[in-house]
Amino acid sequence: MTKKFHLGFFSSFSPPAWHAATDRAHGEDWWSGEYHARLARRVEEACFDFLFFEDTSGVSRTLGGSMATDLTNSLSTPKNDPVALLSYLSAVTSRLGLIATGSTTLYPPYLLARLYSTIDGLSRGRAGWNVVTSSEEESAHNYGLDALPPPAERYERAQEFVDVARALWDSWEDGAVLRDYDHRVHVDPAKVHEINHIGKHFKVRGPLNSMPSPQRTPVLAQAGGSPTGRDFAARNAELIMATTIGGIQAMKAFREDIHARMKSFGRDPSECRIMYATHLHVTEDGRDPRDAVTETELASMLGKHAAHIGVDLFRYDLDRPLPDDVHANGTTSMLDSIKAKGRQGISLRDAIIDVCLGDDELGVTGTADRVADNLADVMEQVGGDGYIIMATQNANAAHTDAILDGVVPALQKLGAVRTSYSGTTLRENLFAF
Ligand SMILES: Cc1cc2nc3c(=O)[nH]c(=O)nc-3n(C[C@H](O)[C@H](O)[C@H](O)COP(=O)(O)O)c2cc1C
Repeated sequence: MTKKFHLGFFSSFSPPAWHAATDRAHGEDWWSGEYHARLARRVEEACFDFLFFEDTSGVSRTLGGSMATDLTNSLSTPKNDPVALLSYLSAVTSRLGLIATGSTTLYPPYLLARLYSTIDGLSRGRAGWNVVTSSEEESAHNYGLDALPPPAERYERAQEFVDVARALWDSWEDGAVLRDYDHRVHVDPAKVHEINHIGKHFKVRGPLNSMPSPQRTPVLAQAGGSPTGRDFAARNAELIMATTIGGIQAMKAFREDIHARMKSFGRDPSECRIMYATHLHVTEDGRDPRDAVTETELASMLGKHAAHIGVDLFRYDLDRPLPDDVHANGTTSMLDSIKAKGRQGISLRDAIIDVCLGDDELGVTGTADRVADNLADVMEQVGGDGYIIMATQNANAAHTDAILDGVVPALQKLGAVRTSYSGTTLRENLFAF
C-alpha cells in the first residue's frame, strides 16, 4: 500500500441486533452502556480512528401514520442519547475517537457547545460532533416546531449554528486559565469574551462558561449529500461521511466534487477527511446476503429508510421502480439515490436492498482476506480517506467478530490501516496520515 487509510465504526445507542443474535441475551442491557463499552474497547484494540453514534429524536410515524412499525421492529426506537454514552465510553477507553450526532435544527447552540466541550474534556480530546440538520418530522414536533423546516432553511440555520458554536468555543483565549495561587486568580477576565451574537435564528451573548477543552472544538463531522449539504460540509467539516452508493466512480466523483467545493470556500482539501460508510459481509461460503433477504427483513429496511426520507415506502409497488415524481422533506440525497436506481429500471425492492446492504461493486462479500483486499484496492482507486464500517442492528456478535478479528487484521497485514495510535486526540489521529 502506498498510503494508509482511516477506519471508523458506525453504531447507535440502541438495542444491538436483538433479532439477529444467536444468543438471545446479547446486548439485552444495552441501555446500561455495558454493551457499547465492550464494543468500544474492542474497536480501540483494532486501532480504529473512532466509534460513531448516529442519532434521531423521535418515534417514527411515517409508515401508515402509526408508531407501530417503528416500535414493533425497533427501527429507530428505543434509542438513548449518545452524548451521555460518550461520557461513559471516555472512561473505558483512552485513544479511540468518540463521535456523537447533534442536531442544529432541534438543539440550541449554547447547550450543544457546552455539552461537546465537556465530552472533549472527559475524553481528554477525543470528541467529535456529527452535525446533522435532522430529517424526521416527528423530531421537530418534539422540540416545539409545527413542522420540520425545508432542507434549504435547515442548512441556513445549521450554518449560523456552527458559526455560533465556534465563536463560543473561541470565547476563551489561550492562557485564560491562570490558576495563579499567589494572586488568587483562577481565570484572567481580560481573556474571556462575550460573543454578542444576534442573527436570524439565534441570539447568544456568551462567553461559554466551560473552559477550553483539549481539542478546543470537537472534530466536526458531516454527511450531507445534496448540493446544499455538500456545500455545508465542504465549508465546515473536518470529516465528511459519504455512502458507497453508485460504486467506485460515484465515490471518486464525490471526493473530487467535495475538494472543488472546499477550494471555492478557500479551504485546502487536506483539511478534511472523506470516509465512506460501507457494509461488509464476511462469509466463508461466498453466499450473497442480498439473495437471502426475508420479507420481514425487507419490511425493516423499508421502514427504516422511509423514516429517514419522510415517504411511506409501503404505499409503493415493491416490484417496480419508485416513481420519479415522489418528493419529500427528509433526506433528499437518499431519495434521489433510490429514484436514480429506479430510472435504471431497478425495482424499489432491489434499490432498498442495495442501499441497506451495499450493491457490492466494491466486492465486500466473501472471506475476510478477500474483503480486505477489495477494500484496499477500492480505496487506492478512490484516493482516500477511509471507511466507516456499518454494523448496527443487523450486526450480531459473529458479524462484529468477523470484522474485528478477520477483516481488520487482514487490512493491517496489507499495511492499509494503522496498527497503533500515534496521537492522543481524535484530530491528531485523523490527520496523522
Ligand atoms: C454515514 C451517514 C451518517 C448519518 N448520520 C445521521 C444521523 O445520525 N442523524 C441524522 O439525522 N442524519 C444522519 N445522516 C444524514 C445526513 O446527515 C443528512 O442529514 C442527510 O443526508 C440529508 O441531507 P442531504 O439531503 O443533504 O443529504 C447520515 C448520513 C450518512 C451518510
